[in-house]
Amino acid sequence: MTWGPYDEAGTRAFLKTAIERQNATPRTSYMFAITLKESGRLIGHCGIYLTDEGRQAVLGWILHRDYWNRGYMTECAKELLRFGFEDLRLHRIVAYCNTENGATSRVMEKCGMRREGAFKKSKRGRPGIDKEWNDEYLYAILAEEWCP
Ligand SMILES: CC(C)(COP(=O)(O)OP(=O)(O)OC[C@H]1O[C@@H](n2cnc3c(N)ncnc32)[C@H](O)[C@@H]1OP(=O)(O)O)[C@@H](O)C(=O)NCCC(=O)NCCS
Repeated sequence: MTWGPYDEAGTRAFLKTAIERQNATPRTSYMFAITLKESGRLIGHCGIYLTDEGRQAVLGWILHRDYWNRGYMTECAKELLRFGFEDLRLHRIVAYCNTENGATSRVMEKCGMRREGAFKKSKRGRPGIDKEWNDEYLYAILAEEWCP
């Protein structure tokens, strides 16, 4: 990620922002908690963020490491696409990822998103944690390409 990890204060600030954005009018950010159906345990977060006067959006997500590779984020990403195209009536949805993030690229491909671009040193890393500049892929899907 290019943000975090958060301490308790950082997490509180993140949640405060999420709640403020939930109550904003017009609403342009939809940030969701990911919980396990059987226990309600919080295991991650995903979101869809509107751009271009509400006709396009960017996706983002993160999952606790203990729950990787069980198909959870593919399930979430498909639901974000359904929500974006069916409920929000969007034209196009995109997502960016570090070119070294094979799992997230795979999630996007499993959802029918297409790799449209590769950008050199386009994303700044976290000082002291990452490389200063990271390469990114752009994935996208159009409303007419989306199959539930
Ligand atoms: C990316 C992330 C959300 C994926 O969540 P997940 O629930 O494990 O994803 P899924 O189980 O639905 O699918 C993962 C797929 O990636 C594949 N995969 C896992 N690691 C991989 C790697 N290093 N290279 C290529 N593919 C990989 C899995 O095999 C699986 O594909 P398959 O179903 O064809 O076998 C999770 O790894 C994560 O939270 N990572 C840290 C945060 C992050 O990177 N967020 C995105 C920033 S853009």
